[in-house]
Amino acid sequence: MRLEDLMERAAQYDENLARDIKDYVHGRKYGLVYEASKPEFVRMWKKPVVRGDIVNILPPRGVMEDTKNEDDPSEIVYKVISISDGIAMLRNEQTDETVTAAVDDIVALARFDKPIYAGLKETGRVERGGDKPYHVVINGENYHALQTLVYAYQGQVDCIYIDPPYNTGATDWKYNNNYVGKDDKYRHSKWLTFMEDRLRLAKKLLNPKDSVLIVTIDEKEYLRLGLLLEQLFPEARIQMVSTLTNSRGVARENGFARVDEYIYVVQFGESSVNRLPLSDEWRVNVKEDKRVTHLRWSMLIRSGSHFLRSDSVNQFYPVFVNNDGKSIHSVGEPYFGDNRSEVVPPKGTFAVWPLRKDGNEGNWQISNTNLRKLIASGFVMLGRLSKGTVPIYYLKKGEIEKVNNGTYKICGHRSDGSIISETEVRSLVTGTQWRIGSHDASIGGTSLLKSIFGVSPFPYPKSLYAVHDTLRFFVNDKPNALVVDFFGGSGTTLHAVNLLNKEDCGQRKCILVTNNEIKEDEEISLTAQGLRPTDEKWDNLGIARYVTWPRTVCSIEGRDIKRKPLKGDYGCPIETYQEYEGEIIDPETGKKKRKKLFEKVKKPFYPELADHKMSDGFEENAIFFDLEYLEPSVVSADLAFDRIAPILWLAGGCKGKILQRQKGYVIGETYAVLFDPRYKTRFVEAVLENKEIKTVFIVTDAAERYRSLCAELPGYRVMQLYESYLRSFEINAIG
Ligand SMILES: C[S@@+](CC[C@H](N)C(=O)[O-])C[C@H]1O[C@@H](n2cnc3c(N)ncnc32)[C@H](O)[C@@H]1O
Repeated sequence: MRLEDLMERAAQYDENLARDIKDYVHGRKYGLVYEASKPEFVRMWKKPVVRGDIVNILPPRGVMEDTKNEDDPSEIVYKVISISDGIAMLRNEQTDETVTAAVDDIVALARFDKPIYAGLKETGRVERGGDKPYHVVINGENYHALQTLVYAYQGQVDCIYIDPPYNTGATDWKYNNNYVGKDDKYRHSKWLTFMEDRLRLAKKLLNPKDSVLIVTIDEKEYLRLGLLLEQLFPEARIQMVSTLTNSRGVARENGFARVDEYIYVVQFGESSVNRLPLSDEWRVNVKEDKRVTHLRWSMLIRSGSHFLRSDSVNQFYPVFVNNDGKSIHSVGEPYFGDNRSEVVPPKGTFAVWPLRKDGNEGNWQISNTNLRKLIASGFVMLGRLSKGTVPIYYLKKGEIEKVNNGTYKICGHRSDGSIISETEVRSLVTGTQWRIGSHDASIGGTSLLKSIFGVSPFPYPKSLYAVHDTLRFFVNDKPNALVVDFFGGSGTTLHAVNLLNKEDCGQRKCILVTNNEIKEDEEISLTAQGLRPTDEKWDNLGIARYVTWPRTVCSIEGRDIKRKPLKGDYGCPIETYQEYEGEIIDPETGKKKRKKLFEKVKKPFYPELADHKMSDGFEENAIFFDLEYLEPSVVSADLAFDRIAPILWLAGGCKGKILQRQKGYVIGETYAVLFDPRYKTRFVEAVLENKEIKTVFIVTDAAERYRSLCAELPGYRVMQLYESYLRSFEINAIG
């Protein structure tokens, strides 16, 4: 129902009511007022059409649908009344007229106001990461994929990064199968409806205690998006960054060339921007923290309170130091006797005990096993040998974290094996204006894709480094972060997560969702050949299959699409001008003169990544799924478990095998499923035996049974699967 129609109708009955509506709408100076568009639908191309389905009639093969025209026949929706001999009897939902059409020429619709049942079908995998968790790429409509993810990861996602269609008025996105053109009166309403439906689901995924939503956008929709975000996330802190994406500029008629776009950062709970060691480009407009600080080494001997030996008897043990006082030989066991001299140090060493200045016995701050680990990592340092003993220092957790996240760079080791760090704090929190050369989409986006595919297969990829840098402000300190991008496009976000993992041996996991749209020109040419979606030739040209998945595989394997080793490294060499002292002939005097000159050089933008050859690939695992729509009758007859199994595996943490149905129960690496309650006792035993299992599913309609299993498995995430499965996987309609 359009707002104007509503006001017109209201005016026929009650002028005051019409005026009130008008005042309400136009009087809202602040906040976003828009007309929610008609419920969205997507075509479920692969679902066999059955009686009761809502469908579109397709034009005959070889004929294009006029998807730019709002009155396009694809807008007409029919209900299937019966099917016989390949012919469907259909009722027009608007006019009630009945028509017939060949079953081959109709396609079922999933309307967002009606429930559907989704499943996942594996279509490929790449495994180079040993027992690391898998990244996941889902080919499908993101609204339904998000609903599926909510089942598995409600409140668990650390970071969502999205680069949605910008609603440019060109053919950059479709709403209900129609391209939304420049002249569409409702194009902003459609875009907002589209975004709102998905952002509401995104909100359910994000961890309310500590997470971030990052949305990129350009000048076409940044205002409306900003208001929508404020409206949907009143509890969050929102900032907008302006970021350079194209240094050459995109011409705007009679205007400035556009060189940048925007990044909304929506932070929840305790989320904070990480201080990072950043290059000079990031320092523009930021007041630099010039303080020089050092790593803080703490005395190993406890001071303050609880410093007596009797306060912590296990932490009274000897540390054996080599006689020259320059290195630690070994760490002894806790000593419970009262004559320390009976502990004989290994040959060539002396024992250092936690003795206080007054000679009394104290205790060390950490256990002997922990100390051994820290020594091995270089986090224990000896002081100067004096009067037959040495003070011992160690790094506390917070300082170790600063070493691990690069705040302090390790530049060497002492003779005792302890790390030497750069002293100055080079890390900073940057400002809201980013002018970073490597973020130029042509450098880190298009050229990178060309190196994999030989051609540029995707119109607007983000720069890999732009995504990498944006993510690391939020997940650098979270080596197990879960990152989701539900407008995955060419797969840049997953690639960036791999780069982050490579830098610090992290196990971050990325879930990408993207649909299998094909480019408009290809759509025209394939249609002319009599093809449609679901025909293999057509589907193989879609983004998910043609770009996202191959890019993921190629970058992990370090090979291009022809299986040749990728060239180059991840240092991102960029042409820049370097200053040097040169000689010129002075035109006036004719004499040689020294002068500062500039030469063009190629320098890695990220010197620390220059060692990482693209051909090395990544030690990561990834899996590719198609989102499928399941027929309720098939699900309720329990014939769809193979499509539901991957969803349980997602919820279980994406590790190990995807568990298939078995008699009684099945135990996996990180999750387990009880199919038959008669096997409960054996099941519980098996779960308790396997320490890695954290998530458990029980198939039952009986709430009592479910509760009793919860009671037997305290501390586990126990999830109920209804016997029919239907309610578990019913993807809710809007509202
Ligand atoms: C702007 S691109 C993202 C580009 C990506 N950041 C990159 O670097 O390659 C948006 C992508 O979202 C996909 N998309 C648009 N609407 C979608 C939907 N409803 N469900 C799933 N994917 C969708 C489009 O096919 C397109 O590939």
